[in-house]
Amino acid sequence: MNTSVIGEPITRIDGKLKVTGGAKYAADYPFEKLAYGVAVPSTIANGKIARIDSAKAERMPGVIAVFHHGNFDKLYRPSGAFEEQSRAGESRPPFEDENIYYYGQFVALVVADTFQQAQDAAANVRVTYDEKTPLVLLNQAAPANITLATKYSRGDADSAFQNAPVQLDVTYTTPTETHNPMEMHATIAVWNKDKVTLYESSQGVVNHHNVMSEMLGVPLENIEIISKFIGSGFGGKLFPWPHSLLAAVAARKIGRPVKVSVPRTLMFTTVGHRPAIQQRMRLGAAQDGRLESFQNDILQHTSLVDDYVEDCTQVSSLLYSCPNNTAIQHLAHLNVGTPTPMRGPGRTPALFAIESAMDELAVKLNMDPLELRLKNYAETDEASNLPWSSKHLREAYQTGAERFGWSKRNPKVGSMRNGDLILGWGMATCNWPASRHAAEVRVRLLADGTARASCATQDIGTGTYTIFAQVVSDKTGLPLDKIQVVLGDSALPPGPISGGSSATSTVLPAIVEATQKAVDAVIQVAARTPGSPFQNADAKTLKMTQGRIHAQDKSPDTGVPFESIIALRNLVGLDGHARTDADPNAKKFSTHSFGAHFCEISFDPGIARLRVTRWLTVIDGGRMINAKTARNQMLGGVVMGIGMGLFEATVYDPRNGHPINNNFADYVVPVNADIPEMDCIFLDYPDTVLNEYGARGIGEIGLTGVASALTSAAYHATGVRVRNLPIRMEDLIV
Ligand code: MOS
Repeated sequence: MNTSVIGEPITRIDGKLKVTGGAKYAADYPFEKLAYGVAVPSTIANGKIARIDSAKAERMPGVIAVFHHGNFDKLYRPSGAFEEQSRAGESRPPFEDENIYYYGQFVALVVADTFQQAQDAAANVRVTYDEKTPLVLLNQAAPANITLATKYSRGDADSAFQNAPVQLDVTYTTPTETHNPMEMHATIAVWNKDKVTLYESSQGVVNHHNVMSEMLGVPLENIEIISKFIGSGFGGKLFPWPHSLLAAVAARKIGRPVKVSVPRTLMFTTVGHRPAIQQRMRLGAAQDGRLESFQNDILQHTSLVDDYVEDCTQVSSLLYSCPNNTAIQHLAHLNVGTPTPMRGPGRTPALFAIESAMDELAVKLNMDPLELRLKNYAETDEASNLPWSSKHLREAYQTGAERFGWSKRNPKVGSMRNGDLILGWGMATCNWPASRHAAEVRVRLLADGTARASCATQDIGTGTYTIFAQVVSDKTGLPLDKIQVVLGDSALPPGPISGGSSATSTVLPAIVEATQKAVDAVIQVAARTPGSPFQNADAKTLKMTQGRIHAQDKSPDTGVPFESIIALRNLVGLDGHARTDADPNAKKFSTHSFGAHFCEISFDPGIARLRVTRWLTVIDGGRMINAKTARNQMLGGVVMGIGMGLFEATVYDPRNGHPINNNFADYVVPVNADIPEMDCIFLDYPDTVLNEYGARGIGEIGLTGVASALTSAAYHATGVRVRNLPIRMEDLIV
């Protein structure tokens, strides 16, 4: 019998290339006469360029050109339509004019024969400014700079709150966080007459393609975006940033390939970040814990250039059952770069506030925090009034509680000990929406007995190459090592962004259909070609199993390898091509993943040291397609959440808007020593509203809820409620 590889812990098919250095990342491509562009960042956050003096830099060895707003091509500002896959990270084209909106904004680009020459000359470009005082902190925003982003309401939350016997009114803040993937952004632009190829680190080559066409004014057919391997992105590489345009224009102007890399320091300014957010939570409840009013009043920052909304209202409106619910979100326009989605955008900061507030309410009610969640369990999506497509959150809570030993928790603060260490236990809910979009895939069954699947979508390190191979294997019976997957090139059939935890659910149906069509094409040839063992058979009675064409009612051994059918006609191969889109039927449901975190921290009161000592996550995320990469995603999400809870914050100097901790010494991310024993359980209920396999996508949900599980555990150990992330040692000294 055919053993399916779906759901198995399959090792990444591109893993060997990566660990042996064979995988080429954007900055790795070698070119004859490659020139290097080094950008000059502004040293003010608000004002205008008064003068750029590049005379000295231009005379330095190896320098080819110095570009700035005075001599650069005028570029188009794109529409920013996400749905149409034409959104730029920062919609203002680089070097558009003399205005400065944020610290680190590119003001010039030096292009030279070597990287060192360009770097040296960039340091010798003299820029003088007319500087104005910048506003970079949320609480500095003037009313005129605050605009409404979005608002949700049902019932009358205000009066229900006033009348509620138990009230909680608290404000939480989450700081600016910066994406720090291992691989930094980089672009190499190569022109060949009027055609340009951009080697990119992109989470969406199709989007990048569309945006570059619009902004550069070059027809789509004359642009190709290549992104074969990506050292992750976390959302920061979803949309093109200014350096990509700088490389493209500079290469066009000097007539040589140009590489522009974004060094780690500039990863903190010109390529997006998670904005600082403040959330005022007001919860009203009955004495038995039933929620009567649920309100979230949200303020986030964005730039002066773009209205980036990190929507915290959605999850606020649907996580718990409550008749009176309001969520309102405003934008504060500040002198910062344009923010961008960062893993779990909206829900990650929102769940920090919501789940912290639920923990605080449980304390007020003298109720177990898990019991409070169960009491307010949402049996339907009360925001959309739709049934859930598949929700097993109650089972996730119960499985987690049993496995963790939650019933042994003594709720009294500081009561649980391990020797001299105080233990704190916390839990929180996870949530992330599931969606599916348009995708096209081509699958070719080749004369040499192998298969090749291709799609423009890219693998950002999550395992997309492997998922493609698993599905082709599932539908043909070919072993994984006979399946080649080609991704990350805008010249291939268009595929989705690697974002929103939706790439897998989006591509699965297209791979299935394209594979099936390729198999059908072989079967048609088998049934029609003279000399074929199935010459007189009805095509409908044939199938392909274990790579062999055979009669449906007989075993594969009675058939022949598919390549022998292809050989009958001297073909190179036979293709299947499919385009699939969201199933309109899915609109009748609210499609979400859920889950629960349970954690333990230890606290050493002598030195105020908090360590995370145990972590358990239970996920109701649909069916897992690859148990190994799924587990990677979940544990990675929790590690990132530990970073959010304990370490990460981009700090702007209010005097000049400089993100002062723009390096790995000062912007602290978790290391192995910070990470405890971790476990993750998948409930694995297929959600077939989205696709035949029932996969929902799992890239982001693991991060949601983590930070509030941590602050709740810290409260349980110390009695200190940290409402402003990250938890700092000094917060815990009492
Ligand atoms: Mo994700 S923030 O959609 O890469």
